[in-house]
Amino acid sequence: MTSVNDLIRGSAATSVRNCGADLASDPWTVDARPAPTYGPGASVADPAPLGMPRQGRLPEEYAAASPEELDRRIRAAKATLGNRALILGHFYQRDEVIRYADVVGDSFQLARAAATRPAAEAIIFCGVHFMAETADILSGTDQAVILPNLAAGCSMADMASIAEVEDCWAELEALYGTAADAAGRVPVIPVTYMNSSAAIKDFCGRRGGIVCTSSNARAVLTWAFERGQRVVFFPDQHLGRNTAKAMGVPLDSMSMWNPRLPLGGNSETALIQARVILWNGFCSVHRRFTVEQIAAARAEHPGVRVIVHPECPVEVVDAADENGSTDYITRAIVAAPDGGIFAVGTEINLVQRLATRYPQHTIFCLDPVVCPCSTMYRIHPGYLAWVLEQLVEGETVNRIRVADEVSSGALLALRRMLAVQP
Ligand code: 13P
Ligand code: SF4
Repeated sequence: MTSVNDLIRGSAATSVRNCGADLASDPWTVDARPAPTYGPGASVADPAPLGMPRQGRLPEEYAAASPEELDRRIRAAKATLGNRALILGHFYQRDEVIRYADVVGDSFQLARAAATRPAAEAIIFCGVHFMAETADILSGTDQAVILPNLAAGCSMADMASIAEVEDCWAELEALYGTAADAAGRVPVIPVTYMNSSAAIKDFCGRRGGIVCTSSNARAVLTWAFERGQRVVFFPDQHLGRNTAKAMGVPLDSMSMWNPRLPLGGNSETALIQARVILWNGFCSVHRRFTVEQIAAARAEHPGVRVIVHPECPVEVVDAADENGSTDYITRAIVAAPDGGIFAVGTEINLVQRLATRYPQHTIFCLDPVVCPCSTMYRIHPGYLAWVLEQLVEGETVNRIRVADEVSSGALLALRRMLAVQP
């Protein structure tokens, strides 16, 4: 089986290109660099936020261990810990990590898993920082959530800071006031994508707002429009725009908010007319997909079904046959009759896994350049072995704790989301 690692290291018998020279390095070589970055890959140019947690140096024995030794040690530690440890793996994790996960899923499914497994003393989240924060908020206070590599952030989530969001809200409130209309709808409801900090979820929870994921964004926006005249959507402009457009909101009723400009770079008139205000964040991985790639896939593979993630730009979503969350993409392929041809616009680890698991179909990534999510990529079996063996020794390392003053509002916003039926 050809893994994404084989592809990016060039060890597969293929001439594929990858999106960053650094990608062939192990994450600890990047983690140890003095200038903090989110590491190799699509978001290599994304600056790391000042306060981001930094991974300490991984003990040398884990960096030096062979894949076989790490496999033996992870399995042994997992067997010793039994039900005390629950390993969650997001679809975008590399196969070398996914093979140890007790639950594999999209960000919504993993949040639900964290909320419904009270027997686990430790939840090891093989995903990124905002997912681990969410798991900490939803799990019991006596459960420890562990992120194997603290440098596994999400460059999109970091495009909205709580200070910027508060400034935006103050400007919107000054413009709109707070009075509800005749139908009881307040001027604006804040909605945040799961891919955001706990502080922003807390902010939304305290102001009558809610969290969404890519699998329930439409149902959540419907919930928000029942309560508000308009929505301000953090931080992914593309998910917000694609979802609102599919619900019939015209593009000219959507304004983009640039936090560096007064009124986000909008006129008062435009903001008063807006039904959706989109924060100007984006995902570096999904921004790579283009209409030209779709045209090339259709030319080369007549009958191809193009499915993309809604974090892709609107023109890509419009040109595709379908769009949906990572779980939607997986289910669409599982349900298809044999012999399907699928061009998929999402992170390469998931696409490659689907291609391997469903050989009855032809499945390929829309982007011919191999480009993993560089922050998901930071979770390596070496880090997993380290945190598990520490647990066996009675030590909890890399625990993600959301402060109480932040978690209560965030919990409110998350519970509202969990109660919305997609
Ligand atoms: P899902 O909500 O589909 O799991 O996606 C999460 C994510 O980070 C996509 O980039
Ligand atoms: Fe964040 Fe994009 Fe990676 Fe998802 S794929 S975790 S949005 S950087």
